Amino acid sequence: MNLKSVILAAGKGTRMKSNLPKVLHEIYGKTLLGYVLDSVKNIADENFVIVGHHAEEVEKFVKENYTNAKTVLQSPQLGTGHAVSMVCPSLENYDGQVLILCGDTPLITAETLEKFVSFHNSVKSDLTVMSTLFADPTNYGRIIREQNGTLKCIVEEKDATPEQKAVKEVNAGIYCLNWNKIKTAFSQLTSNNAQGEYYLTDIIEWGKKNSLNVNAYILEDNREIFGINSRANLAQATEYMTEKVLNKLMTEGVTVVDPKSTWISPDTEIGQDTVIYPSTYIEGKNKIGSNCKIGPCAHLRGGVTVDDNVKIGNFVEVKKAHIKSNTNVGHLSYIGDSELGEHVNIGAGTITANYDPISKTKSKTVLKDHVKIGSNTVLVAPVEVDEGANIGAGTVVTKNIPAWSLGITRSPLKILTDWVKKKLD
Ligand code: UD1
Ligand code: CA
Repeated sequence: MNLKSVILAAGKGTRMKSNLPKVLHEIYGKTLLGYVLDSVKNIADENFVIVGHHAEEVEKFVKENYTNAKTVLQSPQLGTGHAVSMVCPSLENYDGQVLILCGDTPLITAETLEKFVSFHNSVKSDLTVMSTLFADPTNYGRIIREQNGTLKCIVEEKDATPEQKAVKEVNAGIYCLNWNKIKTAFSQLTSNNAQGEYYLTDIIEWGKKNSLNVNAYILEDNREIFGINSRANLAQATEYMTEKVLNKLMTEGVTVVDPKSTWISPDTEIGQDTVIYPSTYIEGKNKIGSNCKIGPCAHLRGGVTVDDNVKIGNFVEVKKAHIKSNTNVGHLSYIGDSELGEHVNIGAGTITANYDPISKTKSKTVLKDHVKIGSNTVLVAPVEVDEGANIGAGTVVTKNIPAWSLGITRSPLKILTDWVKKKLD
């Protein structure tokens, strides 16, 4: 497909009051920019991320996590139009469509972007802007239409007249451009406005003046373009995202006992008839099977695969682990960097000690099928407990345990008869 994306991520994000660049703030362990890059993953064949403020950190993140994206430096940051103009040299001979997005709108979905681009292509548009309606449109650019309803221009809040401010249709900040037709606009934008910036929004008027086919695509679910400008916005976006995830899971046959206290990342798959009990928090990418019981108060930290009929009980933390079917991790345990076979039982208070603070490395714990671990066991990784072996309560496992054996470390229990009685006498 002939589509490239440009993601604007050079702005300062002043209202976050943070040392971390805004687009690297996270929801469920994934950065805001990560959500946007994932949304274009199967749509665009090449992605450009415009970086500026804290450029090195954002560049590092993109390089380490998204091989299909390149960063382009914008310095100084003179506005959204100026930001897009930074890709002009890279796209000099490109003959296709360019999708423009903001790095601070993590709720946008791939489905919406696909529909948006299809609309753009189907009406042979040269420039399509996504718009949506807000009861309170404050701070967004307003979509100004002609009397006959066609697009006229976009006016920013700070440049708007009182009548324009009353308009509820706003610019979502997402555009699709027929690059060959629009690219010359970027050398002709001016900064003659209230903020002294080169506004990307001015390309609408430029397109109209140059007799191009300019269109707006109205997005129904305005939450999808909810932008993050503050910590309060970040919390609100997490809530929107969660509500959507939980509704989808419930539609697919997952019981969520208390949606108000349940937090599940959008990158978590859950099978039918699994029950999620209250106060469970699941972040990152995970796959949970059918007929499982998770929680109450379970914490899955990502990289977790759980097969069918598994129980992960209260105050259990799981990270980077594969737990096979019919296995129970009932209470107060930490399972990290581990592989648990089928029909394994983990006693209360079991810990996989996966981290060596001296070498700063993590090691793996492997428990084969039918292993039973007694309560309050520490499994010091790297360690393997072979099929059917048992571990006595309170054991510190520092060696591999052969199949069907018992591993136990226990000092003999002393009984001092009448010890208490004598003390009280
Ligand atoms: C922008 C739009 C507004 C729209 C809103 C939607 C303009 C002029 N205004 O306003 O019409 O309703 O988004 O959310 O485009 N950025 C850069 N370089 C810059 C300036 C900004 O990369 O020089 C990036 C920011 O990091 C951000 C995005 O562009 O990701 C939008 O910039 P921001 O300053 O947040 O624009 P808004 O005022 O929200
Ligand atoms: Ca913004």
